Amino acid sequence: MLILAFESSCDETAAAVVRDGREVLSDAVASQADMHAVYGGVVPEIASRKHVEAIAALTDRALAEAGVTRSDIDAVAVTYGPGLIGALLVGVNFAKSAALAMGKPLIPVHHLRGHIAANYLAFPELEPPFLALCISGGNSMLVDVRGYTDMAILGATRDDAAGECFDKIARVLGLPYPGGRPMEELAQGGDDAKYPLPRARVAGNPLDMSFSGLKTAAVNLVHNAAQKGEALDRSSLAASVAAAISDELVPRAIEAAKQCGRRTMAAAGGVAANGRIRGDLERACREAGIRLYLPPLRLCGDNGAMIGSQAYYEYLAGSRADMSLNAYANLEI
Ligand code: KG4
Repeated sequence: MLILAFESSCDETAAAVVRDGREVLSDAVASQADMHAVYGGVVPEIASRKHVEAIAALTDRALAEAGVTRSDIDAVAVTYGPGLIGALLVGVNFAKSAALAMGKPLIPVHHLRGHIAANYLAFPELEPPFLALCISGGNSMLVDVRGYTDMAILGATRDDAAGECFDKIARVLGLPYPGGRPMEELAQGGDDAKYPLPRARVAGNPLDMSFSGLKTAAVNLVHNAAQKGEALDRSSLAASVAAAISDELVPRAIEAAKQCGRRTMAAAGGVAANGRIRGDLERACREAGIRLYLPPLRLCGDNGAMIGSQAYYEYLAGSRADMSLNAYANLEI
């Protein structure tokens, strides 16, 4: 089954063709990051306009690179939430039009389910159940993937997402947006214990996370050093931030896997590209006897292939949308 999939929830426009949920025939992505970098973050109105400009040409590119025509496509899939509402609406309306014009079924896909499914593209043997650590620019959560379309949230951030924390600290350090990768580069050779940063404990659910205190502590550190004219060891601060974020995530992921009896874990989302977090996860999973899947870097960020993968399983589970499909800024997994 060939699925033409669209993703436009934030600042990447993407179109892909995926066979049977596992084989990527094409994956065309147009990033707008450079456009937003000038403003230090995503400007929703600009994101929507750039999606409109890019999506038709990307569709042609995805079909051409896959070596297929519209008549070969069996279904159309699209991210319908969560994300920036104006950005999502572009993908949803384009996908509705495409499905209607082509006379094919339309499959709505949850963005984070797509991030998790990126692992199915890289690891043919991976099947639910497993524990997923979803860490992106807008979300951080621990998900028990009981089945391809049966998921339960075990813990989530109460405030900022892990990626947002990297991005905001990067901003005060004068690094470009998005700040995760530049922060990782800056952290090379830094002392990760030089700046003691808080690790949050959240009342109620110990698997819930919090990043805003850590973010504020790091931002204050930068401002205080500037006000006092003190030199800041930027590299060690970046390393200390990565260590603190990793400490927030990794032990909880292990605990979550234990709680739901999973022996397999998969990471997902843009922050899963981070070397410190990947290394800590590998070590912790080895010690706990958990098999770990880390998606290749190109599949960590937003892309259309992951939506095409998850869409296949949504289709098998009977999920279809009609022309009344809407987009949702917030959406339960
Ligand atoms: O999954 P994604 O591409 O978009 C969302 O769905 O949010 O994630 C983007 C986030 C940004 O916050 C970016 O700074 C972060 O992923 N990121 C990283 C790295 N690469 C991207 N964070 C830490 N280390 C990285 N190497």
